[in-house]
Amino acid sequence: ADLGSMDLKVEMMAGGTQITPLNDNVTIFCNIFYSQPLNITSMGITWFWKSLTFDKEVKVFEFFGDHQEAFRPGAIVSPWRLKSGDASLRLPGIQLEEAGEYRCEVVVTPLKAQGTVQLEVVASPASRLLLDQVGMKENEDKYMCESSGFYPEAINITWEKQTQKFPHPIEISEDVITGPTIKNMDGTFNVTSCLKLNSSQEDPGTVYQCVVRHASLHTPLRSNFTLTAARHSLSETEKTDNFSAAAHHHHHH
Ligand SMILES: *[C@@H]1O[C@H](CO)[C@@H](O)[C@H](O)[C@H]1NC(C)=O
Ligand SMILES: *[C@@H]1O[C@H](CO)[C@@H](O)[C@H](O)[C@H]1NC(C)=O
Ligand SMILES: *[C@@H]1O[C@H](CO)[C@@H](O)[C@H](O)[C@H]1NC(C)=O
Ligand SMILES: *[C@@H]1O[C@H](CO)[C@@H](O)[C@H](O)[C@H]1NC(C)=O
Repeated sequence: ADLGSMDLKVEMMAGGTQITPLNDNVTIFCNIFYSQPLNITSMGITWFWKSLTFDKEVKVFEFFGDHQEAFRPGAIVSPWRLKSGDASLRLPGIQLEEAGEYRCEVVVTPLKAQGTVQLEVVASPASRLLLDQVGMKENEDKYMCESSGFYPEAINITWEKQTQKFPHPIEISEDVITGPTIKNMDGTFNVTSCLKLNSSQEDPGTVYQCVVRHASLHTPLRSNFTLTAARHSLSETEKTDNFSAAAHHHHHH
C-alpha cells in the first residue's frame, strides 16, 4: 500500500472531558478514522487509565488479533462495533475512584494513533427538609435542608422566599447556617443547611425554598414549604418524608 495515502486518527469526547453518574455503565468514546476499510484481525486497541491521585498509568483493556483481555472487571470494547471504527470502552458500574485520564491507543501496523479524555464521576445529592423544634423558643422554628450522597464536595445551598405580595423569589441571607460537610463511607458527602424563622414575623402564605446547586445537576434541586396562619404545611413533594409527621404532630401555636 501507498503509506502516503494512509491516515489514522482517533477522536474522543469534544472538550476532552466526559462526565458520568456514579454506578453508571459508562461508555468512554473513541472513534477511529482510517483512510481504508478496517480489518479488525490485523489491528490492536489498548485502553489505559491514569488516576487523579497516582500519576501511574495502568492498562484497562486490550484487543489484538483473536486476543482480548480486561484488566478491570467487565471492561469491554465491542468487536462488532470496532469493525465500523468504534473503539469505545464500556465500564459497568463506574466508581468514584475510577475517575481520571483514559487513553485510547489504536495500532494499524505500521500506523499508530491515540487520544485522551478526562473522566469525571459525579453523584447527585438527595435533598430533604426537616423541622427541628427541640430547644427552640416560642414562635421560632428551625428548618433543616439535608443534602446527601453527592460528589464532588463543592455544593451551594441557599434559601429563597416568595411572599404573596412579592411573588418573585428572593434569597434569604439572615439566619442561615450551613454545617460542615461530612464524608460518607462510599466517598460521597452530606451537608445540612439550617434556616431559623420567627413565625410571628412572617406572612402566612409565604413559600420557602431550599435550593441546591451541584455540578451533577442540570437544574437546581428545590424543596419547599408554605407558611399558613395555623401551621406550617408542606408542598406535595415533601408530604412523604419525616418532615410532615414532625410538622403536624409537634407544631402548635
Ligand atoms: C485481515 O487481516 C488478516 C491478518 O493480517 C488477513 O489474513 C486477512 O486476509 C485480512 N482480511 C481482509 C478482508 O483484508
Ligand atoms: C448522610 O445522609 C444519609 C441520608 O440522610 C444518611 O443515611 C447517612 O447516615 C448520612 N451520613 C453520615 C456520615 O452521617
Ligand atoms: C419573634 O418576633 C416577635 C415580634 O417581633 C418578638 O416579640 C419575639 O421575641 C421574636 N421571637 C424570637 C424567638 O426571636
Ligand atoms: C457556588 O457558588 C459560587 C459563587 O457564586 C460559584 O462560583 C460556584 O461555581 C458555585 N458552585 C456550584 C457547585 O454551583
